[in-house]
Amino acid sequence: MTSQDGFETLAIHAGQEPDPLTGAVVPPIYQVSTFKQDGVGGLRGGYEYSRSANPTRTALEQCLAALESGASALAFASGLAAEDCLLRTVCSPGDHVLIPDDAYGGTYRLFAQVLAGWGVSHTVVAMSDFAAVRAELAARPVKMVWVETPTNPLLNIADIRALAQAAHAAGAMIVVDNTFASPYLQQPLLLGADAVVHSTTKYLGGHSDVIGGAVAVADEALATSLAFTRNATGGVPGPFDAWLTLRGIKTLAARMDRHCRNAMRVAQMLAEHPAVAEVFYPGLAAHPGHKTAQEQMRAFGGMVSFRVLAGEAAAVATCGRTRLFTLGESLGGVESLIEHPARMTHASVAGSPLEVSADLIRLSVGIEDCDDLIDDLRQAL
Ligand SMILES: Cc1ncc(COP(=O)(O)O)c(C=O)c1O
Repeated sequence: MTSQDGFETLAIHAGQEPDPLTGAVVPPIYQVSTFKQDGVGGLRGGYEYSRSANPTRTALEQCLAALESGASALAFASGLAAEDCLLRTVCSPGDHVLIPDDAYGGTYRLFAQVLAGWGVSHTVVAMSDFAAVRAELAARPVKMVWVETPTNPLLNIADIRALAQAAHAAGAMIVVDNTFASPYLQQPLLLGADAVVHSTTKYLGGHSDVIGGAVAVADEALATSLAFTRNATGGVPGPFDAWLTLRGIKTLAARMDRHCRNAMRVAQMLAEHPAVAEVFYPGLAAHPGHKTAQEQMRAFGGMVSFRVLAGEAAAVATCGRTRLFTLGESLGGVESLIEHPARMTHASVAGSPLEVSADLIRLSVGIEDCDDLIDDLRQAL
């Protein structure tokens, strides 16, 4: 592969040269824990033990690095394992991190209930409010700015380029959780971010059949430190999970195009529906982050959230009435999902600054026939 190759080409070929031994056109699943050494320390291709490295995982990592235009990428057992490894590699007890006021609940729980006890403190700030972030950066030394864009579940947009400049000027590093956009829609490293994290469970895997995570970085030295921590702490994906993720990635571009088209139509329908109070989708011209999203994203993604006029009970009832939108946590698979964030994915932020409104419904719009999806939502509402 060359750096001139387009995204779709890289998704199918980067890290995936036909197997030199057999010519197998997709990387085999190296379901193995250890590798024969040719004499003590005589490793073949650098492989020794699958916690340190495994060829199927290497293929996935090379592909992820290419898709994020990074120097390197590392795969993990889950998105949260990726986040934890990055945070404990970069931060030390006593460091301070700025985190979003709207983010995946599990990310907030990691900061508030795990890293806080470890001595890493945080301030919650709206990353879409650039002036507020600048003020927080000026208020104290900050080690890291953690950004999610679009956010889960409110689809807020942060200006990655502006935040990267401000963070770097203040001596902080900037990390972007790119799970909602996927590298097909947005490449934060090219906008100045130092690291990108993913729950590959979502759009990258794409089929709701595997849990995984990744970190892609601009700087090889950081990748080396991350590899050390990951080997020392052990949060690696198994070979079959790496293989499933890599297989999903091959169709990422085609799936995302369809997710984006369907989500835009769903958002437009909801915006006109009499039972709906407010729609959150960065593709709508009325969304406060629409212009920034247009500048830094190829399209607006497959996630749509909305508030129902009749309140919490109506939101919960709506989630139980859909036929095609399956009631469930997670997102980014080919099948449409519906959920109630306050009681499901974001239950862990109840009572925190990230608490979400109880009349909110979140949709992961899949790639089914969009007329069917719209009919389903209409009858449920
Ligand atoms: C934006 C975002 N980041 C990170 C995660 C955590 O990923 P995982 O569930 O793979 O640990 C999620 C999970 O929903 C997420 O939505």
